Amino acid sequence: MTSSSSYSGLEEASSKPHLCGAAKRGSAAVPHHSNPDRPETPIIEFREVGKSYGTFTILDKLSFSVRPGEHLALIGPSGSGKTTILRLLMTLETVTAGEILIDGRSLNREERSGKIVQASEAHLRRMRAEIGMVFQHFNLFPHKTVLENVTLAPVLTSRLSKEEAKNRAFELLDKVGLTNKADEYPARLSGGQKQRVAIARALALQPKILLLDEITSALDPELVEEVLSVITDLRNETNMTMLLVTHEMSFAKDFADRVLFFEQGKIIEDGPPAKIFQEPDHERTRSFLRKVIAAGQRV
Ligand SMILES: Nc1ncnc2c1ncn2[C@@H]1O[C@H](COP(=O)(O)OP(=O)(O)OP(=O)(O)O)[C@@H](O)[C@H]1O
Ligand SMILES: [Mg+2]
Repeated sequence: MTSSSSYSGLEEASSKPHLCGAAKRGSAAVPHHSNPDRPETPIIEFREVGKSYGTFTILDKLSFSVRPGEHLALIGPSGSGKTTILRLLMTLETVTAGEILIDGRSLNREERSGKIVQASEAHLRRMRAEIGMVFQHFNLFPHKTVLENVTLAPVLTSRLSKEEAKNRAFELLDKVGLTNKADEYPARLSGGQKQRVAIARALALQPKILLLDEITSALDPELVEEVLSVITDLRNETNMTMLLVTHEMSFAKDFADRVLFFEQGKIIEDGPPAKIFQEPDHERTRSFLRKVIAAGQRV
């Protein structure tokens, strides 16, 4: 298993399902979450997070928080740390300083025998079950059918019986328009279809948070729309918190209610899309957007 495929919660998770299973209007398959008791608690909080590889610092004292249900677009030049932020949230990487909290609970530390210690693998698995991720290159399991790809995590984590997982998988495949492909293997799908299966798989554990990393950049242009329309539906019909890393500025503008512009691991601007794309405060943001427009993108 590649490190990136481990995201889907395929390891055993000891936590009990605690997410509200209510879904988008009319469907039980897509999660819908809220925490009416603690509306002020950020669903995600980075507290002075650092990430280094050896002496190379990617993130230095990065702090920001995300409200439940927010739709964030993370934009910025290549190498600015966007994927690193998602991988830290997915516990595919560990922080080298600071702390990440998910719904008020530390991702990288836990209390054991009255002491705060580094998170154990069991703690990471529990926390990871709250979060789904979709990758640029799909990362489907090639020797499993579409249906098996979507049912695997809930069954292996004992969240659902085989029958329940199958029922949920069909609801999710219906949502992404692929029930007729349930018994196909990934190799026989188009890129757009593979990515829609990957989205269904990421939703199978009913995550509170969905992370999307350049999910259309490996697709032929004519297949991009079918994937974006699935994401737009999820955005409009659930209240999952969604973090979208993208180089497609027009989609970021339509999708996001808040945009973070990163450079060298730092947030340069943070605001609603109308502000960031039309009247950014910083020259660096303006020059980035000029380059994007010069490359042919509409902003
Ligand atoms: N495993 C690693 N070891 C060393 N350096 C790494 C590692 N992973 C990422 N980096 C470095 O961290 C920096 C941030 O990378 P990251 O992938 O987060 O950028 P990004 O904003 O997602 O870029 P892109 O838009 O090209 O996807 C880059 O300089 C990258 O080379
Ligand atoms: Mg990246």
